[in-house]
Amino acid sequence: MPPPSPPRLPAPDRPIGVFDSGVGGLSVLREIRRELPGEDLLYVADSAHAPYGDKPSGFIEARCMAITAFLVARDAKAVVVACNTATGAAIGALRREFALPVVGMEPAVKPAAGNTASGVVGVLATRGTLESARFAGLLARFGSGIEVVVQPAHGLVERVEAGDLEGADTRGLVERYVTPLLRRGADTLVLGCTHYPFIVPLIRDLAGPEVTIMDPGPAVAREVRRRLADENLLAPGSQAGSTRFWTSHDTAAAARLMSRLWGAEVEVERLPAPVAAAPWGRFDPDGA
Ligand code: DGL
Repeated sequence: MPPPSPPRLPAPDRPIGVFDSGVGGLSVLREIRRELPGEDLLYVADSAHAPYGDKPSGFIEARCMAITAFLVARDAKAVVVACNTATGAAIGALRREFALPVVGMEPAVKPAAGNTASGVVGVLATRGTLESARFAGLLARFGSGIEVVVQPAHGLVERVEAGDLEGADTRGLVERYVTPLLRRGADTLVLGCTHYPFIVPLIRDLAGPEVTIMDPGPAVAREVRRRLADENLLAPGSQAGSTRFWTSHDTAAAARLMSRLWGAEVEVERLPAPVAAAPWGRFDPDGA
């Protein structure tokens, strides 16, 4: 007879799973930690496959399915897609496939429209996000009456993944992408990619103190709290929650970078091989 499986924890005691194409989602994870200090958190950085922004949506969806299945197997009670690009490509499929709360994110066009005085809002995001049907829907709902200037920011995710948060290359890219938005009169800049909050100091240097820079992390964290409360899934008790990290890439390099971005020493585990590189998840830029 097989040994009996261990009893599962009651749902509120289970962890929240969070993932991103890489380390960018840590900008959301830190807000979730702040908002929900008692929750256990699981974080997956799919850095071996970053950036998602220029890849076909079918590829991104396959990665999201594999990672979410991993988090569910780790007993996640809810999953947060801490990536605008992945949300645009896969949130519908994830919600159809998995019977648990799935919280996604999208560029903060709605609050930006309420904030702008000049009537011009700049959105920095990946090409995948800006070309998604979800983003078109956002513009249709909240973009009328204001001018929304979009800027695909090729290469910025790679700079953050390389840990270059303030070097000349990163500064050069920020100048290239942000200057045209400011010239068009944007007084509100939407960070439509979770990697970008880590380069806010460079953006602020360029934009000056008057421009509002919108990081959606805090709003996502509040939404996670709301969803858990609605489903009676908030962790009971007042003990500090734990946080575990996985990567599909090199663990030593990931630990260095993620410790720096997280602001404390963290250990990073390797995702199991089938999750890190599922055959249907490989991206061959020259192939079919
Ligand atoms: N952090 C992801 C996002 O919010 C980056 C996407 C990418 O890997 O290109 O869109």
